[in-house]
Amino acid sequence: MDIKSQNDSLKHELKTAINRVLEHQGYCLGPETESFENKFANWLGIKYAVGCNSGTSALHIAAKLLNLSPGDEVITTPLTFVSTSWALSYVGAKPVFADTEENSMNICPESVRSKISKKTKAILPVHLYGQMCNIDALQKISLDYNLYLVEDAAQAHGATRNGKKAGTVGDISTFSFYPGKNLGALGEGGALLTNSFDYYSRAQSLRNHGSSQKYYHDEIGFNYRMEGIQAAALSVKLRKIDQWIQKRREIANIYLSELSDLPLHLPKPELNSQPVYHLFVIRHTERDKIAAHLAEKNIQTSLHYPIPLHLQKCFSELNYNKGAFPNAEKAAAECLSIPLFPEMSENQQRYVCESIRGYFN
Ligand SMILES: Cc1ncc(COP(=O)(O)O)c(C=O)c1O
Repeated sequence: MDIKSQNDSLKHELKTAINRVLEHQGYCLGPETESFENKFANWLGIKYAVGCNSGTSALHIAAKLLNLSPGDEVITTPLTFVSTSWALSYVGAKPVFADTEENSMNICPESVRSKISKKTKAILPVHLYGQMCNIDALQKISLDYNLYLVEDAAQAHGATRNGKKAGTVGDISTFSFYPGKNLGALGEGGALLTNSFDYYSRAQSLRNHGSSQKYYHDEIGFNYRMEGIQAAALSVKLRKIDQWIQKRREIANIYLSELSDLPLHLPKPELNSQPVYHLFVIRHTERDKIAAHLAEKNIQTSLHYPIPLHLQKCFSELNYNKGAFPNAEKAAAECLSIPLFPEMSENQQRYVCESIRGYFN
């Protein structure tokens, strides 16, 4: 991701938006946040959005809304950014991991089904790398067992599967607007989305010190408010997102055709799935050598994610061992994210393809 080139291309609009905040002084929540919330909810086709100061805080609020507490279990994926599970730990609930699908690297519905216990309260999938997980199958499981379904859509703004947009299926969904995300702020940002008015109004209070009326605090809350300047910048960028998604898909298609004859495992969209390619992750057993080869050619790569959550030190109390989730562990050992961003030039795309090819020649 080249955040500078994106922000440079919008410099004028971003400065105008920031100046507007300097005029009306709505720095914390305020008119910009409200306006962005409405636009983002509209864009997704969801009733309510609650702007937060990160995707992690939105997840924490989601866990509070479901009244998760010690003793409760939530089934989730081990192949994600750590904060998906932290939201559960923050409220004392236990993350119970399920394995991922071999191809999509998203949580596997059959594995989820096998982890359900009397203590299970919710399923928390992630739409990894910008491709939706099998949300229909997960929704069915949640209905069969009377479980809540929360979507971590931090990486999947605009992704669809079977005609449904990421973040529109679960009881609650959360997004991140971290600068490197497909819709990124000029700092931290996140949002919680829901069609439930009750969740919406409680989430508004929870993110604002547990207060729906100034100086009255109904429950213990947090300072998780979205800043006006971030909301103003996000409104500017939201106008571009469909165009950016289109560009990401075009670049992904070039990678998919140019690299198709190489001995690499390439992302393969699931049936009826339109990923937004937040990340383009190739897989190979010699991933570290390929990364070193590309680094020599000045091509930056990254790993998403080299250590699955069940093997992280912070979750050692959960007592998982190596080998517990073979698909997730294999993906973690082989994954390599190569450059993909809407402003990428044809020359840059060609250079990346040639350089990867060079490793195998
Ligand atoms: C899948 C996933 N969940 C949650 C988060 C947390 O979002 P934030 O960094 O905005 O707190 C991220 C961001 O990195 C993410 O990729």
